[in-house]
Amino acid sequence: MKIVILGTGPVCQVLAPAFLALGHQVVVGTRDPGATMEVNLGFRRLTARHPALELAGFRDAVAAADRAGLVVNAISGPACLDALAPLAGSLAGHVVVDVSSPYDWSGEDAVLDPVNTDSLGEAIQRALPGAFVVKTLNTLAAEVMPDPDVAGQDHTVFVSGDDSAAKARVGDLLQSLGWRDVLDLGGIRTARATEMMLRMWIDTSQALGTHLFGFKIVR
Ligand SMILES: NC(=O)c1ccc[n+]([C@@H]2O[C@H](COP(=O)([O-])OP(=O)(O)OC[C@H]3O[C@@H](n4cnc5c(N)ncnc54)[C@H](OP(=O)(O)O)[C@@H]3O)[C@@H](O)[C@H]2O)c1
Repeated sequence: MKIVILGTGPVCQVLAPAFLALGHQVVVGTRDPGATMEVNLGFRRLTARHPALELAGFRDAVAAADRAGLVVNAISGPACLDALAPLAGSLAGHVVVDVSSPYDWSGEDAVLDPVNTDSLGEAIQRALPGAFVVKTLNTLAAEVMPDPDVAGQDHTVFVSGDDSAAKARVGDLLQSLGWRDVLDLGGIRTARATEMMLRMWIDTSQALGTHLFGFKIVR
């Protein structure tokens, strides 16, 4: 299928090659393709290794998306609502896989915003009323997202979203990446829970001295 990834950072740089390896067509969206190829060395190296990767402005990338495929939101958390809202019309009818974190790192420590009574996943769903937003993979470091086995043991990936068919499509993709424990938490409101796990993720990462871990729900 065709997968559009909005964002050119570390998440895109691990997901894009994994999707290509599975035989998917991948289009990446960015603010300014020329500037990205000039300043984003990681992304430039990626395109050298994967010439099939297509790069376009956010609007053109979304215009190229296929309703039978997926659009991944891998834009910086504090920036993604402003970046996505103008694309609401084009994203209507599309499944949007939201991996973003509502973390603001501009102060001394990371602060979640929104939190408790709202989540970025819900805010994105409100900003894109015609899209089917599915929050997932946000409790993991980028390197672990397409390769759960890198954490050494079986662990859990969560999905939150209001549309069952959209969650099923995302679940199929996760399974094709090797995820065996895909836990459907419920509606997009449950993105509050997984977004709030990020404080736990940061402190666990510091305690373990690695990003290569995951959370396991034992039942
Ligand atoms: N890195 C991880 O391990 C990890 C783990 C879990 C969740 N996440 C979440 O996944 C998302 C992507 O993370 P990342 O680490 O790959 O990259 P990131 O540095 O958080 O975001 C990079 C992307 O955000 C875009 N961006 C930044 N400021 C923008 C603005 N003002 N307007 C529009 N676009 C803007 C950049 O656009 P350009 O391409 O134009 O520069 C770039 O494509 C984030 O929401 C992050 O919180 C990351």
